[in-house]
Amino acid sequence: MTAPAVFHIVLYEPEIPPNTGNVIRLCANTGATLHLVKPLGFRLDDKSLQRSGLDYHDLAAVKVHQDFAACLRDLDGARLFAVETGGAHCYSTREYRAGDAFLFGPETRGLPQALLTQVAPDQTLYLPMRPQSRSINLSNAVALVAFEAWRQLGFSGSARYP
Ligand SMILES: C[S@@+](CC[C@H](N)C(=O)[O-])C[C@H]1O[C@@H](n2cnc3c(N)ncnc32)[C@H](O)[C@@H]1O
Repeated sequence: MTAPAVFHIVLYEPEIPPNTGNVIRLCANTGATLHLVKPLGFRLDDKSLQRSGLDYHDLAAVKVHQDFAACLRDLDGARLFAVETGGAHCYSTREYRAGDAFLFGPETRGLPQALLTQVAPDQTLYLPMRPQSRSINLSNAVALVAFEAWRQLGFSGSARYP
């Protein structure tokens, strides 16, 4: 039986295959479920996605949704945090719980305003940057948030490398 996800990562309309490849691998590393909201900028069998060194079983916890509403239905009331440059809280200052979901935007556009308004301002997060920086690479942003959430959960389900 598959263990319940420690948390959920949602990529809204991701565009660049290697970013999603990295995030698929990261979700397999941490036990998170990855939700991909269509349209995707690539096919899941795209070669450049595979270049991230994915194993077949890494795809086990990936769900593809037709649209954001379908994704929300599947998340079934999970607490949703939107991660965006204009977020209200620094990502490391909030307390996370098992089952939380983290929503990230597409590489060239970020999360659309219409979608951000569906998330309580108190549940929007930013990652600190230097003043001239525009944004952090999507897969790096996911890694930072995922590891902070997982750290707070005591790296639940992890094992030392043999
Ligand atoms: C490459 S960014 C693009 C967003 C950016 N607003 C833009 O259009 O220039 C893609 C996604 O990574 C995440 N991200 C990147 N940098 C971030 C930051 N400093 N704070 C929060 N999220 C960030 C967000 O989820 C964002 O939608």
